[in-house]
Amino acid sequence: MEIKQNISLKPYNTFGINATAKFFCEIKSVDDLRKALQLEGYSEKFVISGGSNMLITADIDALVMHINIKGISVEKDTPNHVELKIMAGENWHQMVLHTLEQGYGGLENMSLIPGNTGTAPIQNIGAYGVELKDTFVRCEAMNVQTQELETFTKEDCEFGYRDSYFKNQGRGKYIITSVTLKLTKNNHKKNTSYGAIEAKLQEHGIKEPSIKDISNAVIAIRQEKLPDPTKLGNSGSFFKNPIITAEQFKKFYKKHPTAPFYKISDEAYKIPAGWLIEQCGFKGKRYGDAGIHKNQALVLVNHGEATGKEILNLAYIIIEKVDQTFEIQITPEVNIIK
Ligand code: EPU
Repeated sequence: MEIKQNISLKPYNTFGINATAKFFCEIKSVDDLRKALQLEGYSEKFVISGGSNMLITADIDALVMHINIKGISVEKDTPNHVELKIMAGENWHQMVLHTLEQGYGGLENMSLIPGNTGTAPIQNIGAYGVELKDTFVRCEAMNVQTQELETFTKEDCEFGYRDSYFKNQGRGKYIITSVTLKLTKNNHKKNTSYGAIEAKLQEHGIKEPSIKDISNAVIAIRQEKLPDPTKLGNSGSFFKNPIITAEQFKKFYKKHPTAPFYKISDEAYKIPAGWLIEQCGFKGKRYGDAGIHKNQALVLVNHGEATGKEILNLAYIIIEKVDQTFEIQITPEVNIIK
């Protein structure tokens, strides 16, 4: 395992932030990871995987370990289901396409989500009515202290909306090395009720969609709304959709009867942050090379040479303005690396 010095992290984060890693190594196996964690003489160690959910705001004075462990294997095969063990460094979307080629269902609504499979459980990725937890069986993660592999069941992961154990008590303590998902081989549970998917299938004249049709519809919707990180640096949704109390919602809705919302329970409502940000006039705006995407105000973009600090400053401006306008606090979904 080669340790390189002063490596630009620009190719390793989808925001395209040009920060430098003091030390850098490629992790190609579980054994590499164990060895890297055991290396002495580094003040800190830092994990980067798909780099799709982080904003790097300064150079990283640490050993950066790039998780690049590959492999997909069948763990269990029954007439109706298959369980696939996917190693952490597998690109999420390539893996989704692979499952669809095999005729396996369950991931089609989560097509084209950037990032690697190993980081999917950390924030329980989700799109168009489906979340990772819906197909999740277990994951394996290396305990950073003991370098032992530990298995986490779905319950252990404590999944929530863009949330899990790994973002809370488990933060910084584990590095996920593989994820096992249970997919359907037939009788696929198709989830097309999400408005945008229905509309796209209709537009394509499809009445009885296959799982591949659903994936294609999702890809088309995402390509229309979300910027391609290889062309315009971004991290997907920069903010989480805020969840407010029923009492807050009553006040909010009186003032803004046309606002979109999702009722979560009798006590909680989710408001799309993209709508709040757009209403504040930010959509498509640009501050130097930091900006807000023209088709989806939830996404901050790097038009070229923006620094992480510039994007973070823009995020603060947005948070402040949304708070002043709506008395709703929005928080970043991406990890801010300081
Ligand atoms: N909206 C606006 N203006 C905008 C953006 C959205 O008015 O600029 C409105 C839309 O018209 C719609 C509502 O907000 O009424 C919701 O928009 P959309 O369906 O596009 O979904 P979202 O809430 O903005 C969430 C996820 C996305 C995921 C989509 C689809 C979060 C933080 N984001 O976005 O996830 O793809 O739903 O399921 O939950 C990601 O995490 O990177 C991501 C892209």
